[in-house]
Amino acid sequence: MAKKRIRKILVPLKDLEENSVLPYSIIDQKGRVLVKAGSRLTRSVLQSLYELNRSFVIAEVMEEESVVAKEDVPLQLKQETLEDLQSTLEDLAQGKTVSLDALEKDTKNLIQAVELNPGLVVPIIQLKKYDDFAFTHSLNVAVISLFIGKFLNLSRQELLILGLGALLHDLGKLKIPVEILHKPKKLDEKELSVVKRHPIDAKKILEEQTSLNSSKSQLIALQHHEKIDGSGYPLGLGSKETDFLSQITTVADIYEALTSDRPYRKGLPIGEVVEYLMGNAGYKLNMEVVETFIRHISPYQVGDLVKLSDGREAIVSELNPVLPFRPKVRIKVEDEQGKPQLAEEVDLARITTLTITEELLSKSKIRLKD
Ligand SMILES: [Fe+2]
Repeated sequence: MAKKRIRKILVPLKDLEENSVLPYSIIDQKGRVLVKAGSRLTRSVLQSLYELNRSFVIAEVMEEESVVAKEDVPLQLKQETLEDLQSTLEDLAQGKTVSLDALEKDTKNLIQAVELNPGLVVPIIQLKKYDDFAFTHSLNVAVISLFIGKFLNLSRQELLILGLGALLHDLGKLKIPVEILHKPKKLDEKELSVVKRHPIDAKKILEEQTSLNSSKSQLIALQHHEKIDGSGYPLGLGSKETDFLSQITTVADIYEALTSDRPYRKGLPIGEVVEYLMGNAGYKLNMEVVETFIRHISPYQVGDLVKLSDGREAIVSELNPVLPFRPKVRIKVEDEQGKPQLAEEVDLARITTLTITEELLSKSKIRLKD
């Protein structure tokens, strides 16, 4: 029998439907089960979840695989950051003046988690996508930016500016009408010009409603769509006028956007995104940032299902930081009843006649429901 493993993910509370049967258990931050998998979500159960005063709940998903993806930063920290990000943005949307103390504390915790993680940047899509406002996008961009910042040996102070700016980089989107923000089709010229205002709006909101008015974090929100050849927006700044921390966030933003699913398209495979970044390095994107980032990206994630050059299927079991295209894999075989099992581990760095020819199922693309 294939071993069962537990994976934790965050599910937006508003996605839980009354009377549906839960496909996973919901747990609290200490790991205690609040609602068991298989239970029906009655109104009173839902009510008790709403009373926790959280927008995301932690779900425990059972997976029939003997390998699980490693966390980039702890899920609980992501949950807390998302909660703080959501309440901050809601307050800002209502025109309130807000303190960014909570987000600053979250950013410090994220920095600590990133510093403790010795590994590669693995695809950072462990969160279910949230469609109201791209909270998860912002959090992912912040985590990716902090990893890049760490690899570039930035100081703690610079990482704090970077993380906070990246968390708030798309805040100006609060001003974009929902019909335009969620339009599944291509935007027309007029709609596009509305979208392109969001960096300016972000700067204005941060200036008027927060204490972040003189910080470089504000520049990140203003400059994250600029390109070093001057072809970006809103100001068309070149490399000299664009802050280095903004240039890091630009790369993280593009990587996150292209690898994630959107209503109108599936996320691109990491290999293609890496090629895109490399193609623009030194031309539209900062060369040092792209090169540093790419050196630390793995094209695979633990748990990915791949096809080998001899036709067999296997699951990635351990990444190789030196030879990222040659991870360790476990070959998939069938038992007497035809059920899939995982057999011996093969180190593709040692058996060089064997290569991965195809990625059949990326762990980062697996969702509970879509
Ligand atoms: Fe943006």
